[in-house]
Amino acid sequence: MIKQAIIPLAGLGTRLLPLTSVFAKELLPINGKPGIEYILDECIEAGIKEIIFIISKKKQMIKNYFYNDAFYKKIIKKKKDPRIINEYKKILKYKKMIKFVYQNKPLGTGDAVLKTRKFIKDKFFLMLLPDDLIIKQNCSKSMIKIHKRYASSVMASMKVKKNNVSRWGIYDLKKKLDKKNYLISNVIEKPSVSKAPSDKAVIGRYILPKEIFSKLLKLKPGKGGEIHITDAIQSLIYENKKFIAHIFSGKYLDCGSMNGYIKSTLEIAKS
Ligand code: UTP
Repeated sequence: MIKQAIIPLAGLGTRLLPLTSVFAKELLPINGKPGIEYILDECIEAGIKEIIFIISKKKQMIKNYFYNDAFYKKIIKKKKDPRIINEYKKILKYKKMIKFVYQNKPLGTGDAVLKTRKFIKDKFFLMLLPDDLIIKQNCSKSMIKIHKRYASSVMASMKVKKNNVSRWGIYDLKKKLDKKNYLISNVIEKPSVSKAPSDKAVIGRYILPKEIFSKLLKLKPGKGGEIHITDAIQSLIYENKKFIAHIFSGKYLDCGSMNGYIKSTLEIAKS
């Protein structure tokens, strides 16, 4: 059973500048609700019991959002507004599940994951990238089912436009397991169009094995001088560890760019 999830939140969010010069993009509202709450709700519905946030000092605002008890208590005492009481209860429910760890230098997703090493208890854990919203189907829940069926690591995946491959981790197929699940033989972080092994990309949901930490410890910086989770996954695949690409059925919304962020609100409003 997968009980723990980790969420890297320590990136700089440069694609959403100037907003992100003072604001954590994960708290920006998408149809009136902070983006991170969609991710938390997905985890809770998928049966996750503990969530580890990787933040930085610059993203302290995220912790403050969940730790503003004195403020809520004062307002509730004064106003007795049922809406505020409900909102506070919701925050308390989230807060109970969340642990915070810090990555003060954004050295890459792999380095962010490494910060959670001492806290992961079971053989496998879930990782969600908060820029990637998947609506209309709980992707984490489906992936946990696949993990149980095949006793394997799992990554969410979708087909992307050939000329866009350099934005993603792109993988090669080894074997079709069933209609929506493939064993993968190779994954490359942000390849050029000519070097991409396919047009299938890894999207921000991963069920990873604890062994990933020993690979991350040895990893040298890769593309763009960052330590990428994809490179650690690749070294596990070299050792014949099973990784499944799960073609999810939900709708993918990219909230990490301004265009995508605006579209996300429109999509969620009409769904
Ligand atoms: P990205 O590199 O896609 O996004 O990281 P970013 O750094 O937040 O934003 P841009 O690209 O500059 O606009 C994917 C996820 O990994 C986290 C980010 O917070 C994001 O959720 N991350 C990235 C870290 O936690 N630490 C890092 O060192 C890098």
